[in-house]
Amino acid sequence: MKTIHNFSAGPAALPWPVRERLAEEFSLDEAHTPSIAEVSHRGPRFAGVAERLEAGIRRLTGVGDEHHVLLLQGGAHLQFAMLPMNFARGRTAAFTLTGHWGEKAFAESARITESRVIASSADEQYRDIPELGHLPADAAYLHYTGNETIHGVQFEQPPVAAVPLAADMSSEFLSRPYLYADLAFSYAGAQKNLGVAGLTIVLVRKDLVERIPDDLPQYLDYRTWIASGSMKNTPSTFAWYVAAEVVDWIEAGGGLAKLGERNRVKADRLYSVIDASDFYSNPVAPEARSMMNVPFVMADDDLTMRFVEQAEAAGMPGLKGHRAVGGLRASLYNALGMDAVDDLVAFMREFERTHG
Ligand SMILES: Cc1ncc(COP(=O)(O)O)c(C=O)c1O
Repeated sequence: MKTIHNFSAGPAALPWPVRERLAEEFSLDEAHTPSIAEVSHRGPRFAGVAERLEAGIRRLTGVGDEHHVLLLQGGAHLQFAMLPMNFARGRTAAFTLTGHWGEKAFAESARITESRVIASSADEQYRDIPELGHLPADAAYLHYTGNETIHGVQFEQPPVAAVPLAADMSSEFLSRPYLYADLAFSYAGAQKNLGVAGLTIVLVRKDLVERIPDDLPQYLDYRTWIASGSMKNTPSTFAWYVAAEVVDWIEAGGGLAKLGERNRVKADRLYSVIDASDFYSNPVAPEARSMMNVPFVMADDDLTMRFVEQAEAAGMPGLKGHRAVGGLRASLYNALGMDAVDDLVAFMREFERTHG
């Protein structure tokens, strides 16, 4: 039986040991014991999951008492709106754009408050990380997208700016050691590196809370979630449970240092094969290349669909590029092993040999 390697950009592969835990949790017993998704979010059993998840996120991100850890719904999209509503009204929200998701965050922010792009690599088709421009004197924060999932552009380190940083970490959250404690605000959906859709992790530095205006609907006011332990209403309990299991899996495997090394090796292997070939190419400047999402194109674009279909038939689904840019994309999130990259590289070489 051949193993399927899931290269999906998200929702994405879960670690196999986590799937085993889920199978166990949801197995059917004679007593019909309720699973974790069938019990009250206010009862002791789920309280244990919530505590385990928050403590694990704090350990892995290194954020301490100066940050709130919130577990919300609505995905990164809701944060595109909540962030400016809470922290930038009456000020300017500054953005650095390195791809599609930064554009989306900026467009939403511009509906809510004065918003300005101070750096963008749009003119170079987002192939690099731009130099920061001048920050407005009343900048509330500088927003950046840690990893652009579609364009395959990643900041190695947070940008250096004299204002609070707000980062969309959706597609690289908990994939390597990172200075989360230095960010005033960061957010990420769980459905790439931390489990399943329905949970958004938000890390907010406590001093920002003073800026929140008093006229927001309760649901959109971060103070509601701080005061309720992220339980103003029923949380996505299943997604919390899966995330708690993924956190345990990360820690059991040696934590973010080990994971970051493994993710680096996976990405380097794939880029080296792309760079050594005239048949495949990746347009991003080497120092800005993503470790998580590797977009690539073939010299003959007409072959793209054939590649996608044959790869899927060979047990490698999820390699079609995003519709905004086309081409191909391999997403190499935490759950994907080195064996998956080895199989992909072997497939790419064979495809080049037969179609090049
Ligand atoms: C970097 C980034 N930001 C935002 C989003 C949107 O996330 P959501 O669907 O959770 O709103 C995605 C989704 O792929 C993403 O990769």
